[in-house]
Amino acid sequence: MPGNTQTRIVNSYMDYTGIVAEDPVQLHISSSFFLGDAFIVLKSINGVAKGVYIVDNLFSGKNNGVEIVKLDQSNGAFKQIDKVFVDRNTVQGMNTRATIARASMQGNGTWTVDFSSILLFPNLIKHVQYSFSASGSSFPNHALRNVSENRVVIESDVAVPATVFVTVDQGVTS
Ligand SMILES: *[C@@H]1O[C@H](CO)[C@@H](O)[C@H](O)[C@H]1NC(C)=O
Ligand SMILES: *[C@@H]1O[C@H](CO)[C@@H](O)[C@H](O)[C@H]1NC(C)=O
Repeated sequence: MPGNTQTRIVNSYMDYTGIVAEDPVQLHISSSFFLGDAFIVLKSINGVAKGVYIVDNLFSGKNNGVEIVKLDQSNGAFKQIDKVFVDRNTVQGMNTRATIARASMQGNGTWTVDFSSILLFPNLIKHVQYSFSASGSSFPNHALRNVSENRVVIESDVAVPATVFVTVDQGVTS
């Protein structure tokens, strides 16, 4: 039923069977074990996903490329996304998806960190934090330039080899 889902699924064993949640509002799925490529679908009816926690679960599959959490946006895209946290799940033989992700990369002048293969919602980054670690004596100016398509672009004013450490979040309310 779309809307006020108000459902907790905790400490459960999902044996070759998944969960479909329509317009989830207050849905909490944690500490559960999903066996046999079982996955969770968030299905948009009116485009609402609010207060959704999918955390601390175990997912186990057979390397069929199945994602642990999928979106069904065949009735329209999610438009109201508020406090959706998909994080800290352990995944074996399936593809992980999350609303929080971290990465680091080395570069020289421009750093493009691509989170599109891990973030759950397409083209949505609500919050970015990054650190910039330049070696040697260089001390450049640097800035966040772009977050579209779930790709974070950082640039410095001069080309210097440096490592950037980036954390992105789709779930926070801004
Ligand atoms: C951000 O990048 C996208 C393509 O990835 C581009 O279309 C857009 O113009 C860029 N935005 C800015 C402010 O540079
Ligand atoms: C970084 O880029 C600058 C300008 O293109 C180049 O001169 C320099 O050799 C590069 N440094 C490294 C370590 O690639």
